[in-house]
Amino acid sequence: MKSEGLTSIKSIAKSHTFQFFIMSSPSSTTISFIIKPVVFLACLLPFVMLVYAAFMGSLGVNPVETLTLETGSWALRFLLITLSVTPLRMITGQSWLIKLRRMLGLFAFFYVSLHFTTYIWFDQYFDWAAIVKDIPKRPFITVGFSAFVLLIPLVLTSTNKMMRRLKRNWTKLHSLVYVIAVLGVLHFLWLVKADTREPLIYAGILLVLLGYRAYQQRFVKSR
Ligand code: HEM
Repeated sequence: MKSEGLTSIKSIAKSHTFQFFIMSSPSSTTISFIIKPVVFLACLLPFVMLVYAAFMGSLGVNPVETLTLETGSWALRFLLITLSVTPLRMITGQSWLIKLRRMLGLFAFFYVSLHFTTYIWFDQYFDWAAIVKDIPKRPFITVGFSAFVLLIPLVLTSTNKMMRRLKRNWTKLHSLVYVIAVLGVLHFLWLVKADTREPLIYAGILLVLLGYRAYQQRFVKSR
């Protein structure tokens, strides 16, 4: 019975469809003209839906809160999606996935910027003195703001030119994204008052991603 199950798994693995799924890589034309535009539009979708809801007046009883929470959640999701690219590429052998990483990371920054803008504009009404006081006063804001500031050098050095110029330092600098994600999760955990389920799910995902990276560095790269 056990060996029958094993044989059928092996035969699935040998089947053409499965091998196509696992091994074939799209051509660079498909990546540039189909996959990248589709991923770009998919990443833009939460923003389009928020703008649409704002125009339709369907952001709920507290529109500012909805905007803050939605943009914050998407910022964190995009950070985690960006961090998943390398493990996914290694597990599936689909090296082209790396070509999506920069776009995903920039979308994380796009949603954090919207999140920060919502805070400055609709929460603090551009009262810079109040903002300067509020950032160090509320620890969850301090942590969120630190994550936002740390993202800026990553965005500025995200071009191919900067990657070539900084060489190994680029990789070192960009591993800051793990720190940023930890700060993002902490920020979320800190601000929730009762139901910690959602931030804990993000914390769990981040832990798996950090574990995978530690495993790679310890056991695979040092081989
Ligand atoms: C990488 C940076 C950041 C990430 C990933 C992030 C993420 C989040 C998340 C996930 C939430 C909760 C969403 C929910 O409950 O569904 C949130 C809420 C919030 N964030 Fe951020 N955030 C970041 C930076 C900032 C910054 C820079 C500020 C302002 C200086 C800020 C201010 C707030 C505020 C005021 C809330 C709402 C709190 C409440 O209504 O209880 N965040 N953020």
